Amino acid sequence: MTLPARVSRLLPLAALLCAAAMTGSSRVAAADAKPIPVDDSSFKCITEMHAVRHFFVDNLLGDVEATLAVARQGRGDYPVGSVLQLVPNEVMIKQPKGFSPVTRDWEFFFVDVSEQGSKIYRRGFADVNNRFGGNCFACHVKARPEFDFVCETDHGCDPVPFTREMFGALQRTDPRCKNRAPVSAADAQALKQLGELVKSMTGDAKTN
Ligand code: HEC
Repeated sequence: MTLPARVSRLLPLAALLCAAAMTGSSRVAAADAKPIPVDDSSFKCITEMHAVRHFFVDNLLGDVEATLAVARQGRGDYPVGSVLQLVPNEVMIKQPKGFSPVTRDWEFFFVDVSEQGSKIYRRGFADVNNRFGGNCFACHVKARPEFDFVCETDHGCDPVPFTREMFGALQRTDPRCKNRAPVSAADAQALKQLGELVKSMTGDAKTN
């Protein structure tokens, strides 16, 4: 089963085609792997998760230490239940082994966040896009195998046009967090630049 996965990491386009073709077979694999139930209440204020370098992790099954160990090491396979986030509204969750071989069992989420909480907008495996129409899987599959779909800046994924300052500002202004500090001047500046960038990427009509 590792061969198609390896080939697909080398050939993202082929991977996309395969993903469509393999939907049936991954369902079969999923029959004996019960998914971890995930709903709106599974998500929380990003800064209440566990910080590792510039991103945040958690584990829905309670095994945070196992997730932290892989994150801190910066390579290796994440354990089942792992939750990874760089920004408040994009989330990767590790489902049980065999559930979705083509995504190495990662389920991708695009979540709407507000002071009222989290609402899953889109979820799935090879077919979830972010707010810019970018496909989560198509980018993350390019991470070299030892990084288990985690991109950071030098794992083989195509770069994104956002800075770490922008990611940090988004984390610190997550509307779900009860104990948010007032927005600093540096964060306000980063968010302004982000807003301009997003506008240029999506066109005025779709900035939200
Ligand atoms: C255009 C390519 C691209 C798309 C599309 C994309 N990502 Fe990423 N993602 C990246 C890159 C590159 C990073 C690392 C950025 C950094 O660390 O500065 C990243 C970081 C992350 C991280 C933190 C862990 C890591 O891989 O470094 C998570 C979690 C994540 N993305 C989830 C998602 C989800 C969920 C989606 C879809 C809703 C998505 N991403 C769409 C390229 C992409």
